[in-house]
Amino acid sequence: MNKNTQLVSLSYISNTVVDISFLGNLRLLAHSFLNNQKYNITGLLIYKNKQFAQVIEGDEAAIERIWSKIQRDTRHKDIQLLSKEPIVNRSFTKWSMLFPESEKVVEYFPDMVEAVNDLEMPVNHPLFKILAN
Ligand SMILES: Cc1cc2nc3c(=O)[nH]c(=O)nc-3n(C[C@H](O)[C@H](O)[C@H](O)COP(=O)(O)O)c2cc1C
Repeated sequence: MNKNTQLVSLSYISNTVVDISFLGNLRLLAHSFLNNQKYNITGLLIYKNKQFAQVIEGDEAAIERIWSKIQRDTRHKDIQLLSKEPIVNRSFTKWSMLFPESEKVVEYFPDMVEAVNDLEMPVNHPLFKILAN
């Protein structure tokens, strides 16, 4: 099989220096939503109490590309990779984001409703097992 078509899942947690505002999260959501749609990246990003937790799934090449950008992003620090592994099937059918008052995005940006509604949280996913502890 061509290496570039291998499906990969990656998860990490990180901290922010300052609390990210609603507008700050909105910018992150809009940018990531469009990018991830374009590169067929699925998963979930959670922001709460100055901490991020994220799962991204997609073709290895797309995941490597976005992961190197995420690691260089100055909006967060103490990035801790939790898992990075080949997968056969995706655990998420879309990419979405959860942050304080993210449900309000629907009012202002109906085009992005998919990113904040019907969040998928597969409880058996390694990220959620770690977050539950
Ligand atoms: C916690 C966190 C998660 C991010 N997740 C994504 C993501 O899933 N997809 C994405 O395209 N950018 C994500 N970004 C933004 C990237 O770090 C980077 O700013 C962006 O991809 C640059 O896009 P561009 O190359 O189109 O300018 C994230 C940033 C942070 C701080």
